[in-house]
Amino acid sequence: MQLEVTIKRFNPETDQQPVYKTYSIEAQENDRVLDVLNTIKWQEDGTLTYRKSCAHGVCGSDAILINNENKLACSTLVKDIKGTKLKIEPLPGASVVKDLVVDMDGFWGKYKLIKPYLVNDDPVPENERYQSPEAQFKIEESTRCILCGACTFSCPSSWGDDEYLGPAAMLKAYRFIFDSRDHSRDERLQILDNNKGLWKCYTIFNCVQACPKEIDITKHISLLKREVVGEKS
Ligand code: F3S
Ligand code: FES
Repeated sequence: MQLEVTIKRFNPETDQQPVYKTYSIEAQENDRVLDVLNTIKWQEDGTLTYRKSCAHGVCGSDAILINNENKLACSTLVKDIKGTKLKIEPLPGASVVKDLVVDMDGFWGKYKLIKPYLVNDDPVPENERYQSPEAQFKIEESTRCILCGACTFSCPSSWGDDEYLGPAAMLKAYRFIFDSRDHSRDERLQILDNNKGLWKCYTIFNCVQACPKEIDITKHISLLKREVVGEKS
């Protein structure tokens, strides 16, 4: 099939403003959007810039805006697009480094704030820090996050406030707060309990729609809110 692909191009070092360029390419319906980008880069314009690594929905590096929805280029098939027109843009609300590559420094800064690692000063056991299947089940959904940023850059609260932690960082906080082996629950809840954290989430649900791993992020944020409120009552 013949695809008409319009891509938002911008190099802040040389361009005054972004321009939309359209490419006409041959594609198969089972091609991924990442294949489409590769075809354009390899056959039409080698200057097209985008991130990718694993190409299998694992590394989280190729989240972009595809026909107005945040998605992974490697996990979106041409046949899912419905039609022969494809509009590809960088993640909304993010500053562009070049073309589809956005600056993720702020995203990673917020991720670091919530201490994204297990805190446990107990003596290291001989084999493992045991976790029961029931305790693991409690955090299983949140561990599916691949940190692509599709959720955070779909959230109007994030677009309007650079300091808002955003859904990805709060989901990661959930992953450790409810981990039966972790000892830093109170400290993490304190980091979240303010209007740059949990209380800036107005349950808009864009994050749930954007998540390529189908994580109900809003539910996790609501459970964190309940945990904070329960603590105070
Ligand atoms: Fe944003 Fe998701 Fe909350 S879109 S406002 S983090 S429910
Ligand atoms: Fe790794 Fe798409 S390239 S998730």
